[in-house]
Amino acid sequence: MKLLTISGSARRDSVNTALLLALKDVAPEGVELSVFHRLDTLPVFSPDLEGQQTPVEVLEFLARVSGCDGIIIASPEYVRAIPGGLKNAIDWMVSRFEVIGKPVALAHASHRGDDMLGSLRLVLSTVSDGFLDDVFLRIPLIGKTPPEIKAILKTPEWQSEMRGFLSAFVAAIQSRQTCAHDPVSNVS
Ligand SMILES: Cc1cc2nc3c(=O)[nH]c(=O)nc-3n(C[C@H](O)[C@H](O)[C@H](O)COP(=O)(O)O)c2cc1C
Repeated sequence: MKLLTISGSARRDSVNTALLLALKDVAPEGVELSVFHRLDTLPVFSPDLEGQQTPVEVLEFLARVSGCDGIIIASPEYVRAIPGGLKNAIDWMVSRFEVIGKPVALAHASHRGDDMLGSLRLVLSTVSDGFLDDVFLRIPLIGKTPPEIKAILKTPEWQSEMRGFLSAFVAAIQSRQTCAHDPVSNVS
């Protein structure tokens, strides 16, 4: 199973990227987790650039979205909203096929940011019917230094939270894949 994680921050010492990298370290056997933290490389979306005109950086990003079984997003809140880079990436996906039905879950590296989370939940449930609102991980790391973050994420409590989050996400993906392959189990 392939999971793509997307950091809403392009900052070098991003706490959200650090959280996603820590998830990579605890991914269960058989789960390949990659971290995309360069949303700053995607040009600004314009409908004029869709179709044949789609920039190569965007096509490469969309290929990663298409090729994964599920997406985890961890993003900061900027001015009580979704950071422009993340919203831009989602805008690129809106009129395309890659994200439709793709399981998506949120991780969050702050005790704050609920306005952004509310907005992101609304946006994701609009672009993908695979958005899993109840699979959520929150670890308050904001304001910590990289060594402090490393130490916090190594504690047994947070390791267990991270493993539990990944297990729940993987189980939800597997259950959706089973339903898709076995239409009879879809009938209630
Ligand atoms: C432009 C800007 C706006 C911000 N606005 C908010 C905000 O509205 N609410 C909040 O909780 N933090 C806000 N912050 C603080 C960020 O959430 C904090 O710096 C966080 O660590 C950024 O995530 P990152 O470490 O993954 O880059 C803002 C930071 C920046 C740079």
